[in-house]
Amino acid sequence: MKAVLDVKRFDPENNSKEYFQKYELEVEESSTILDALIKIREDLDGTLALRCSCRASICGSCGMRVNGSAKLVCKTRLVDIAPEGEKVQVEPLGNMPIIKDLVVDMNPFWNKVQQVRPFMMPNNTEPEGEYIASNESMTHLVDVMNCIMCGACVSDCTALEVDESFIGPAALAKAYRFVADPRDDKSKDRLKYLNKNSGVWDCTRCYACVEVCPKGVAPMERIMKMRDLAIEEGFKNTSGYRHTKSFVNSVGKSGRLDEARLALTSVGFFNVFGLIDLAFVGLKALVKGKLPPILPHKARESENIKKIVNKIERGKG
Ligand code: SF4
Ligand code: SF4
Ligand code: FES
Repeated sequence: MKAVLDVKRFDPENNSKEYFQKYELEVEESSTILDALIKIREDLDGTLALRCSCRASICGSCGMRVNGSAKLVCKTRLVDIAPEGEKVQVEPLGNMPIIKDLVVDMNPFWNKVQQVRPFMMPNNTEPEGEYIASNESMTHLVDVMNCIMCGACVSDCTALEVDESFIGPAALAKAYRFVADPRDDKSKDRLKYLNKNSGVWDCTRCYACVEVCPKGVAPMERIMKMRDLAIEEGFKNTSGYRHTKSFVNSVGKSGRLDEARLALTSVGFFNVFGLIDLAFVGLKALVKGKLPPILPHKARESENIKKIVNKIERGKG
C-alpha cells in the first residue's frame, strides 16, 4: 500500500529551524508507522533520526506524535490511520526538548521520575523475613506496573504544557505504584511531598494522559486517588483542597459555581501575595468584562441540586 508521511525535521547542527518533510513510499499492508520510518531511513533518507528498539511495544522508546496525538509508532499500523494512503503527520513527543528530528531528550522525564523516589522504602533496612503481600493488593497495582516509561502521557499533558515544573502523569503514576504498595512504609511522607506545589493538585483533569497511554496505566485516575489519600491523611492546607471544598460548598448551596468566592478561597484569605496576584487577575477580568458576579444567583431547582450534593457527601461518610 502507499504511505505518505509528513515528518518533522530538526537538525540543530545544520539548521536551527523546524520544518516538515514529505516522504512517499510503498509499504506492506501490515506495516506500522515505525516500519515505514525505518524504511525511509534505510532506503530514502539516511539522515532521518528516530529512536526504537523492541518493535513490540515493550521498551517504550518509540513514542512520537502521530496526527497530533502521542503514540507508540511500533504499535500503530498505517492501515488503521490512513487506509486510503492519506498523509500522516509524524512529530517528536511534546513537552520535551528535541535532540534531532524525532528524538527527544528524556532527561527532564527521568528527573521527574527520580523526584518521586521510585523505589520501595520499608522501615526496616534488614527484613526479618519474607513479606507476603496479598493477591488483592498486588492485582490492584498490575495496571500501574505496566508502565513502560514511554513518555506519551507527558507529551500530551496540558498542565505540563503551561507549567514545566509539574511532576507530570508518568512520574505521578509511578509514585502511586509505591504509595499503594503495602510493603512501602513511607506512603504518608510521599503524599505529603506530592501534596505540595507541582504535585497532585496541579493536574487539570484533562484526561489526555488516560487517552494516549498505550498500556492502560490511567495516570489521571492514580493522581485523583492520591488526592483522596492525601486528604484522608489530613493534608488539607493546599489551594487544591480548598478549591475542591469551595466548589462543592458553592454548588451545594446555590446550585451554581460562585467563581469569585472559589478564587478567593482557593488562594486562601491569609495568603497576602496570592491575594495581590488575584487582584491583578480580577482587574484584567474586569477590563475585559469577564469578572464573575460578586453575588451569584441561585440556580433554578437549586434545592434538588442541594439534595444530590448532600446525598453524595453522606455516602462518603
Ligand atoms: S489529566 Fe492531568 S496529568 Fe493527565 S494529561 Fe491532563 S493535566 Fe496532565
Ligand atoms: S503512564 Fe502510560 S503513557 Fe505514561 S509513560 Fe507509562 S506507559 Fe507511557
Ligand atoms: S520500539 Fe519498543 S515500544 Fe516501540
